[in-house]
Amino acid sequence: MWPDGPQSTASSPRCVKGASCSHYIGPVATAEQTPLECHEVTKVFGVNLATARALLANGCDRQQVLDETGCLVAVQGATFSVQRGETFVVMGLSGSGKSTLIRCLSRLIEPTSGTVKIDGAPISELDDQELRELRRKRLSMVFQHFGLFPHRKVIDNVAFGLEIQGASKADRYERALEVLSVVGLGGWADHFPQQLSGGMQQRVGLARALCVEPEILFFDEPFSALDPLIRRDMQDELLSLQARMQRTLVFITHDFHEALKLGDRIAIMKDGEFVQVGTPEQIVSAPADDYVREFTEDAPKTKVITVGSVMRPLDGAAPSGEPVGVDAVLEDVLARLLADPAALGVVDDRGDVVGVVDRERVADLLGESSRAGAARADRAAEQP
Ligand SMILES: Nc1ncnc2c1ncn2[C@@H]1O[C@H](COP(=O)(O)OP(=O)(O)OP(=O)(O)O)[C@@H](O)[C@H]1O
Ligand SMILES: [Mg+2]
Repeated sequence: MWPDGPQSTASSPRCVKGASCSHYIGPVATAEQTPLECHEVTKVFGVNLATARALLANGCDRQQVLDETGCLVAVQGATFSVQRGETFVVMGLSGSGKSTLIRCLSRLIEPTSGTVKIDGAPISELDDQELRELRRKRLSMVFQHFGLFPHRKVIDNVAFGLEIQGASKADRYERALEVLSVVGLGGWADHFPQQLSGGMQQRVGLARALCVEPEILFFDEPFSALDPLIRRDMQDELLSLQARMQRTLVFITHDFHEALKLGDRIAIMKDGEFVQVGTPEQIVSAPADDYVREFTEDAPKTKVITVGSVMRPLDGAAPSGEPVGVDAVLEDVLARLLADPAALGVVDDRGDVVGVVDRERVADLLGESSRAGAARADRAAEQP
């Protein structure tokens, strides 16, 4: 069962009916192919599209296009790729274009221009049947509002994807029960969705998405409706599943802390465009503009900034005690630095000492962030 490890590889996509089945099961990938690539994806809503496109091509901005044509540029020029095993988070305020973008990735919304490739194949070239098969077998989506069928038991909700693929009842129930136990709902198969809490229903949504063994999973604010504690549990659950299953994930959120926790890379979106794409550490330590900086001011810096990025050269220093790895985050060394003023040695992947980290450097960094927080509080207090 794949939640314990990536068994269904991209080069062997399989139909639940077995090896003899001739169903289309998506483009056959090789190990080198990037699971998901987007190039200059743009979506414009409105009727006067030809003029809107011409204006965009001439360098007009979103507001000019809106003023002159009445068309809304929801997504503009989104270019990125996601590797197998990577969680790519798209984060931005309400209306920034996140849902439109993620819907373009599976052609639930047709992009106005640009290319989306799955395992190297442009999805714009798929006919209706192929697109349906792709969505059924290679992609899964999890939405904020769980979208469960109220009249179906939990197990039939989870097994739905396999049912429409034509799997036998025995096969799909066996798989659904396995996935239910992976998301911690082993005993709930025969209940109906309304008998479950919101958090449990979202687990059912997650189990349903996982049941078809998708290569690529799209999440559109799946945890936004959940209480903070349940939300944290679900985030932890997703992290642990992804560590085991190594799928290709695109996760939408408007919560920067969630983005930092889940994302290997984060794209920050504003008014339909990516304003910055980077690792959590890159974004927190070097925000591209004020819009991004606003999000980072409250960020738990010690959880994302690595020792490697704040260490200083050895310069004859004699570090004490057990060294720390360059990839350790500051949170991992804080207690030791507070307990002992001596600098700690920092070692690279090969175990060679490449620098030292000390209390002063970390205190400077944390001081900068608390000064920024205080300045922001002052600004807020000055507002009428
Ligand atoms: N079908 C549509 N027709 C016209 N405009 C639309 C349509 N869908 C979305 N929009 C507009 O596109 C812009 C982006 O919307 P989108 O739903 O992608 O934002 P979002 O970032 O997902 O926001 P939220 O965080 O509130 O879910 C918004 O201005 C929205 O009004
Ligand atoms: Mg949305």
